[in-house]
Amino acid sequence: MTSYVAAIDQGTTSTRCMIFDHSGNVVAVDQMEHEQIFPKAGWVEHNPEEIWNNTREVCAGALAKADMSPKDVAAVGITNQRETTVVWDRATGKPVYNAIVWQDTRTDRIVSKLGELGGGQERYRDRTGLPLATYFSGPKIKWILDNVDGARERAESGDLLFGNMDTWVLWNATGGTDGGVHVTDPTNASRTLLMDLDTLSWNHEICAEMGIPTSMLPEIRSSSEEYGKIRTKGALGGVPIAGILGDQQAATFGQACLSPGEAKNTYGTGNFVLLNTGTDKVMSDNGLLTTVCYKIGAQPTVYALEGSIAVTGSLVQWLRDNLRMIDSAPEIEQLAKGVEDNGGCYFVPAFSGLFAPHWRSDARGAIVGLTRYVNRGHMARAVLEATAFQTREVIDAMNADSGVPLKSLKVDGGMVSNELLMQFQADILNVSVVRPKVAETTALGAAYAAGLAVGFWSSEEDIRSNWVKDKQWDPELDDASRERQYRQWQKAVTRTFDWVD
Ligand code: G3P
Repeated sequence: MTSYVAAIDQGTTSTRCMIFDHSGNVVAVDQMEHEQIFPKAGWVEHNPEEIWNNTREVCAGALAKADMSPKDVAAVGITNQRETTVVWDRATGKPVYNAIVWQDTRTDRIVSKLGELGGGQERYRDRTGLPLATYFSGPKIKWILDNVDGARERAESGDLLFGNMDTWVLWNATGGTDGGVHVTDPTNASRTLLMDLDTLSWNHEICAEMGIPTSMLPEIRSSSEEYGKIRTKGALGGVPIAGILGDQQAATFGQACLSPGEAKNTYGTGNFVLLNTGTDKVMSDNGLLTTVCYKIGAQPTVYALEGSIAVTGSLVQWLRDNLRMIDSAPEIEQLAKGVEDNGGCYFVPAFSGLFAPHWRSDARGAIVGLTRYVNRGHMARAVLEATAFQTREVIDAMNADSGVPLKSLKVDGGMVSNELLMQFQADILNVSVVRPKVAETTALGAAYAAGLAVGFWSSEEDIRSNWVKDKQWDPELDDASRERQYRQWQKAVTRTFDWVD
């Protein structure tokens, strides 16, 4: 009797394998961090081979911690940092270049040149739901083909494959050069700028415009079906991989946001608010993305509006690693609690430009409002508040797009253990913020997708009934203070614009 489902969560800073029981409880976790490579200002890379090795190790590690054999696991789901781009040789399995990470801004010129063909930032919006921005995979593939010696010729003769991290992990896990499955799902494909949102197929016209041969692109299948069996020895060998969801869509699924109007916010490296819009594809007039939320087997596609924020949790890491103001990320809460407020200091972390709702690749980070009064505590507070203010910006955009103000916000991710931040989030949004018992909703969502495909869970009702509230924060701040602080934040944001020529 197989009583468990596993998920591989290949995230921006680490790779995890988690094993869940039928109630959605975590039975075992293993996790490994990988190197963040910053070759130049604005460039961010990962080593795909390091990530694949880590994936194998954490799968074996989680099984060992749970004292299980692969036979105990009914299926595996994959969830992943989205947009991050790997191009590799199909015959050798070797990447031709490091993975270019979603935060990387090197494709700035490529993106503006494409916009100059007509339509500017909105050129592909109708077909893909996305603005033209450095964030997405298409321009990153183009950069690799344009800049790695011989890559374009090899791609054109069919020797190279492209994948986001879901595809890279799936291909390697299912045999690699010996018959690896080259597949992705529509949630990941919808982040490439190359997929048609209506048909869920690659748009040949856009691919041609970016000079990307479609032969290197993975087949787009649903988010919940059996793609192949794991063929690596030991680490879950023989278990079917039966679910793929980009990490933010997985968190939406894991948070049981399964009806139109339900939204979640994940506090990870960045923050990502997703609002389920059902089978309707809502186009944003306010700087949000239209994206695939999930597609379960042959069921109709469910879409989402998304507010993507590039830098939130990674700002705390930056404070720890680059400024050495704290020794560990959780310490920031104590430091921030030592002061009453931000002392007039605002920190706009436009490290990768600004994503939603601004889409300004010319922006760079700024700390404003400094006086001699400002100390470490105020700075720590400003860092936490930046996460909440950026979330307010995308929720305001979402309310404007949907016409229905959000009543409460489900939250998950690493930073939701920070009580001060959660209270400030409720205050600045003026809605309740609700945290579920299982905060590991990203991995859980991928496990659900896989478990549904193999009949481990029978319906979305199982998912709804597994969702249990842990804690709720209600707004306490008066209207005048809230709006005054938010106005100051908006002023601070404008100070980051026009920084890069
Ligand atoms: O779009 C990028 C996103 O998928 C990365 O998520 O969890 O690594 O912040 P995370």
